[in-house]
Amino acid sequence: MKKISKILAALLAMTLLFALSACGSSKGELKILDTEYVVEEYAICFAKDNEELLDKVNAALAELKEEGVLDKVVDKYISGAEHDLTFQQDAEGKPELRMGTNAEFPPYEYREGDEIVGIDAEIAAAIADKLDMKLVIEDMAFDSIIAAVQSGKVDMGMAGMTVIEDRLQSVNFSTSYATGVQVVIVLEGSPITTVDDLFAEGANYSIGVQTGTTGDLYSTCDIEDEGLGTVERYNKGADAVQALVSGKIDCVIIDNEPAKAFVEAYNK
Ligand code: ARG
Repeated sequence: MKKISKILAALLAMTLLFALSACGSSKGELKILDTEYVVEEYAICFAKDNEELLDKVNAALAELKEEGVLDKVVDKYISGAEHDLTFQQDAEGKPELRMGTNAEFPPYEYREGDEIVGIDAEIAAAIADKLDMKLVIEDMAFDSIIAAVQSGKVDMGMAGMTVIEDRLQSVNFSTSYATGVQVVIVLEGSPITTVDDLFAEGANYSIGVQTGTTGDLYSTCDIEDEGLGTVERYNKGADAVQALVSGKIDCVIIDNEPAKAFVEAYNK
């Protein structure tokens, strides 16, 4: 009798362990497909009639590139390197340089407490130093930035923003300060294994994007308009990733660095 209850206890423990491990693995990890969708250049945008500021910022960017400051900032936020970068130390009282951004895009711009930090915020601070100005960052929806720049609500837009023909109709862009790649995030085990699967004949996937981004523009044109699937638009990239995790959509198209940040945060 004693022996039997021991065996039962062991069986019960095994069943429990099995259930636990099955539950752990059912979470499903996120992954970024190896194939790239589109490679693009990021730059800062300005109102068409503000060439003066555009020229000054281009000169500042060239110096910062030359001095290795741009590399250090990227290094700090992407590789986690320790660099003591201190910009805007005595900016108080100086004329304002107002930057419009959308702080939902790590590691380029995101919130740490109530501060907006990231590659763009830091490069903009370095630019403001060169211009002897005080950087003021305004957080807004990504698809409001160009209008805010055009109307003069802000002096420039900096938001990991890709230079594309469409936007060049409305604003001017600085020289490029970074390269981005549109990538595809899926859940492990997804039938989507390469970017081409999204355009295959008979494909009918639902694709999540952040509203107004190039991921939205490209997939609308290449996939939705071609009748090859649907595009779901979200205010934040993170909301699109959440929808993917909960099974509402099949993949997310977004820039590579935020993709890495979102996937790492979820998988850990
Ligand atoms: N590079 C893409 C674009 O220009 C996405 C940028 C999104 N940026 C952001 N801060 N949310 O459309």
